Amino acid sequence: MNDSMSSMAECLVRWGATILVAVALIVRCKIYLKRTDSSQRHVIVDIGTCKKIFDCKKYLDDILTNQLTPSASRAIPNQRLVKAFNIYNGFTSQDPALGKRFKADASEKINISDDAWSKIAHISQTLVHQQISGADTHGDAIFLNRLAQSITLKISLSVLYGLEPSTLNSTAIAHIAEGIDARWRASKIPGSHCPISLVSLNQSLQTIFPALEIKEGRENPLNFILPAYETMWRAVLLGTISIAFPDERMSHPSNYSTVLVQYLQSPNKHTFEQIHPSEGGISVAHIAQEILRLFPPTKRVYRRYHFPNEEPQLLAADIEACHHDKTIWGDDAQTFKPERWRSIDEKTKESYMPFGAGKYACPARVEFAPMMVGLLVAAFVGQLTEAQREISKECTENRGRGKTEEDKGVKLVNRRGMANFIVRRKQ
Ligand code: HEM
Repeated sequence: MNDSMSSMAECLVRWGATILVAVALIVRCKIYLKRTDSSQRHVIVDIGTCKKIFDCKKYLDDILTNQLTPSASRAIPNQRLVKAFNIYNGFTSQDPALGKRFKADASEKINISDDAWSKIAHISQTLVHQQISGADTHGDAIFLNRLAQSITLKISLSVLYGLEPSTLNSTAIAHIAEGIDARWRASKIPGSHCPISLVSLNQSLQTIFPALEIKEGRENPLNFILPAYETMWRAVLLGTISIAFPDERMSHPSNYSTVLVQYLQSPNKHTFEQIHPSEGGISVAHIAQEILRLFPPTKRVYRRYHFPNEEPQLLAADIEACHHDKTIWGDDAQTFKPERWRSIDEKTKESYMPFGAGKYACPARVEFAPMMVGLLVAAFVGQLTEAQREISKECTENRGRGKTEEDKGVKLVNRRGMANFIVRRKQ
């Protein structure tokens, strides 16, 4: 009797232990699942749904309502930028009034006169010329990525803060560009170490803005510099390369350089949109649109959603996927082809959204950003095509990854940390 009781007790203990282990495992598993659920990113590639996501609206079955306010839904995914740059603006704040003011201030800064456009065209050409001829004189290679960064940054500072580009300390400008790039990239990988500290980035900013209290988030000039400069420089770089160093497999029916260089003589809304019948019927606007279609600087727009009784989730409206969708843009969706904009139907146009859409659409979308991208690409292309030049091997490797025959002339890779494009005079 005693024996059977003790073996029963043993059995119970064993079962108890097994059940405890199983419960512990289930609990851990649930926690794990919750973690993966809450950090999961749902990427949306359907145009109609993307537009709902931009506005932080109901998106799937039109039943569930996001419990977060639109400002919160947008600001939460952007908190990594607060850590990386100590910024405080409409992108990062949950205060709708601040967001409204920020957008109004940005719109005011970029509303510039025709005279100011002409001045910018002149300065941009001078800056590009100085850099390129300096490199040529010393037989040096031209590092196009750095050049696109420094010139776009100088011009952005002149528009946003009225600074004189030619007087800006070039070393500080290079450090700021490098710091923004490094810290932006590190902010995307949680826990990663950034080789450039915020202190060092702020020191360089302080050289340019001696009177500002940069530690104070609201005063931080990066509040405006980031949305303007960080979006434009990569479009300028990749647009320049697409035009000055076209893929040899491509035939360009139009002479883009001629159209661009003419625009530089007198840049305004009219010359931007002017069709050039002798150059295949294209305009600078077509070129800028094609650059921003193929190389959208903001590839995805993120929103946080929290539905009742569910884990919060991160949704991404995939702008790049919509821009490259072959069912919309055709088999040559990956090809740089400004001509496609000569006659484009409304449905296709709907899927073009480099500036987002709806409630938070970019205030620079209508004039400033496309005109500035066109202008800076023109300044680069004009100077680079003057002498016979060749581009580094990395460029060719960067182009045409995973190509198929129909992706002939496939686009350059568009991402932070892309290959260095190095240009030399042909021997
Ligand atoms: C090619 C250049 C540019 C691109 C591709 C671009 C892209 C975008 C995108 C996708 C958004 C929407 C973000 C969202 O929905 O969360 C946005 C918003 C915004 N952009 Fe741009 N942008 C560009 C240039 C500029 C410039 C030059 C400025 C001037 C400071 C600017 C200021 C803003 C502001 C203030 C907003 C927020 C609008 C709001 O809160 O309603 N952007 N931009």
